[in-house]
Amino acid sequence: MQAAEFFRKYGNTAATPWSASGNYVRNEADLYAALEDLYGDTPRPLNRTGRYMDILGERIDSGRVSTYFETGVNKGGTLALGQGLKLAIGVDPSPKTAPGAFDAAPFRLEVKTSDDFFLETFSQDAPDFALDLAFVDGLHVFEYALRDFIGCELLSAPGCEVLIHDVLPRRMAEAARHRLTRAWTGDVWRVPLVLRHFRPDLKVQLMEAAPTGLAIIAGLDSANRVLLERYNEVVAYGLSLSVADFMAARDQHVAAA
Ligand SMILES: C[S@@+](CC[C@H](N)C(=O)[O-])C[C@H]1O[C@@H](n2cnc3c(N)ncnc32)[C@H](O)[C@@H]1O
Repeated sequence: MQAAEFFRKYGNTAATPWSASGNYVRNEADLYAALEDLYGDTPRPLNRTGRYMDILGERIDSGRVSTYFETGVNKGGTLALGQGLKLAIGVDPSPKTAPGAFDAAPFRLEVKTSDDFFLETFSQDAPDFALDLAFVDGLHVFEYALRDFIGCELLSAPGCEVLIHDVLPRRMAEAARHRLTRAWTGDVWRVPLVLRHFRPDLKVQLMEAAPTGLAIIAGLDSANRVLLERYNEVVAYGLSLSVADFMAARDQHVAAA
């Protein structure tokens, strides 16, 4: 399947309903207490191996990156790390950046969903850039983060890494597809697991970066079409995974190479 066809067909969709609208419960402590009581959903803090922004910043500053891309800009904290690069592209349908903050080179702020960005990019003849580093931090719903990874890999230069934020929820409530809590990882945790299952050629590392984990994906191949061709199967497999099982085995997932 061609990249543009893939994003035209599946872009901005999820297989099952969800809501990211931020209908926070009035008292999160009550929610946590109820879930702990009902399901043993206890808080499981990470064994912090640095903060996600520091880890991302070190990679951006490594000297190996000239083109950086991110989905999910919000206030621009991570996009600003690309200041010294040749090109730093950020995509967000509703960024909360200061006016003019990313108007000048090397920045390119695209106010649209990442799916729309990929569809437009792949509908043109050939992109005029290739990615050395990408950071996936847009919509925290499994299918969206998966498609963000797919789009980044299709745009990757040799040696590119993709970092995915929020892959290690600290409790099940934080990992709900329907957003109930202020701190929200959603079910992005499914993405590294499906990559390990369907793409054993990739190197998928999970880091206990504060606050909610980071996946580092290397060994990308911009010509690989497995995730596009088998997308429905990949999504069905990912949605079949249980968050309770994932939380119980989180340490083993982190330890796995
Ligand atoms: C957690 S914030 C990003 C934070 C930022 N990367 C940082 O670390 O400072 C998530 C952002 O994703 C954006 N977002 C929501 N849906 C999106 C989509 N479909 N494509 C790209 N970004 C999206 C939201 O508007 C929000 O600003």
